[in-house]
Amino acid sequence: MAKQQHKPWGGVFEGDVDPRVERFSESVSFDHRLYAQDIRGSIAHARMLAETGMLSADERDQIVAGLEEIGHEIAAGTFEFKQELEDVHMNVERKLTERLGDVGRKLHTGRSRNDQVSTDFRLWIRDAIDRTDQLLANLQRAFVDRCDRDHGIILPGYTHLQRAQPVLANHYWLAYTEKFGRDRERLAECRRRVNQLPLGTAALAGTTIPIDRRHVAAALDFEGVVANSLDSSSDRDFAIEFAFVLTLIAEHLSTWAEEWILWSTAEFRFLRLPHAYCTGSSIMPQKINPDVLELIRGKTARVVGNLTSLLVLIKGLPLAYNRDLQEDKPRVFDSADTVEASVELAAAVVTGAELNRPAIHERLERGYLDATTLMEHLIKVGVPQRTAHEIIGKLVGVAMKRDVPLAKLELAEFQAAHPALDQSVYTVLGVEQAILAFSSEGSTAPAMVAKQVALWKERLGLEP
Ligand code: ARG
Repeated sequence: MAKQQHKPWGGVFEGDVDPRVERFSESVSFDHRLYAQDIRGSIAHARMLAETGMLSADERDQIVAGLEEIGHEIAAGTFEFKQELEDVHMNVERKLTERLGDVGRKLHTGRSRNDQVSTDFRLWIRDAIDRTDQLLANLQRAFVDRCDRDHGIILPGYTHLQRAQPVLANHYWLAYTEKFGRDRERLAECRRRVNQLPLGTAALAGTTIPIDRRHVAAALDFEGVVANSLDSSSDRDFAIEFAFVLTLIAEHLSTWAEEWILWSTAEFRFLRLPHAYCTGSSIMPQKINPDVLELIRGKTARVVGNLTSLLVLIKGLPLAYNRDLQEDKPRVFDSADTVEASVELAAAVVTGAELNRPAIHERLERGYLDATTLMEHLIKVGVPQRTAHEIIGKLVGVAMKRDVPLAKLELAEFQAAHPALDQSVYTVLGVEQAILAFSSEGSTAPAMVAKQVALWKERLGLEP
């Protein structure tokens, strides 16, 4: 049995703790990942305590040097984390105390592990946000880089996974660029709320010790201090928001991955995936499987699961700190690790894939992708939309029976359908002409798309 007297709370305890409780309640096996943030936060706290007169300059210097040394040892892998010390915070502090004696025992003045862990976690998430943002910018660059390579390629656009209308390949690349652009905006907004200092909240009510929270906030590059200690001690909104943004990123990746899994099949043959991101079968020699894409899609499940866990975790928790909150870190770490790896690999796959122009071209001829353009042609001469829809629907029926594209119907057939369908129909039929007929803002009209490509190149710092 481990002696409670050896714990930082030993004073009031009689008897020993069941070793199963130590195993059950420890968090150092995962929160050791916060060590750099913990040390940085403690250094800022110690410097502040010296400013307010709670530590002498000499005590401050001993503590700062001691913490830096411990930081180096952990980075070098020579530091031994002890499970009985529960978490990263107490492991670091105990080591400091072993080395400095009473001076080390002063570090925890005016703070609690409740505000300490929240500070460390916010610092960690802030770094993770910045890493994710950079990875997303690279992914966006990979999509936008395709625009020069695939200039002029037309793809069949789908709704309900049925061929619908033609779209420029560049319009398609920019569709994903936009989605990940919104994710980056969400990260930036989340970062503002993450970037508020909780330290000084102490356990839940604040402290009677003279402290200067603004001093610590400035030292740690926080934009401000959390206003209400009771709120701050219980708050994990910042972590949940981050987990949500990660979930949306994973969802966007999953959509893209699914699409490309389909497109790479022999049935579609729209693209050839780079072999570096595929794996084979142990039994079927011919197989080249899109495993990376499948795992990007599959790992989205755990990211969703992590978000759900976090939401359930805080459900019904009374104010303020409750030990339940310790369960937040593994979920956030896992989502961050998963999404970072997925985004990085996605960029490589986007860059390495080749569109199969002949196979795509073959599909453009089929599927009546120009039918809506023809209908709009008729609407523009004054025919009501519902009527035009019916007329073109019937013409498509005629073409389907003959198994020819609309452009192959005789002028007499168009005339019989509606007198306004004259020779001019042949100027909008066929996907190339249909693409040119688009005009609305945000559409796949070549001029609109070119403008957007230029805009994104500028935003992403790419060559025009
Ligand atoms: N390991 C704990 C956590 O991650 C640190 C805070 C513990 N606070 C406490 N009052 N027991 O939440």
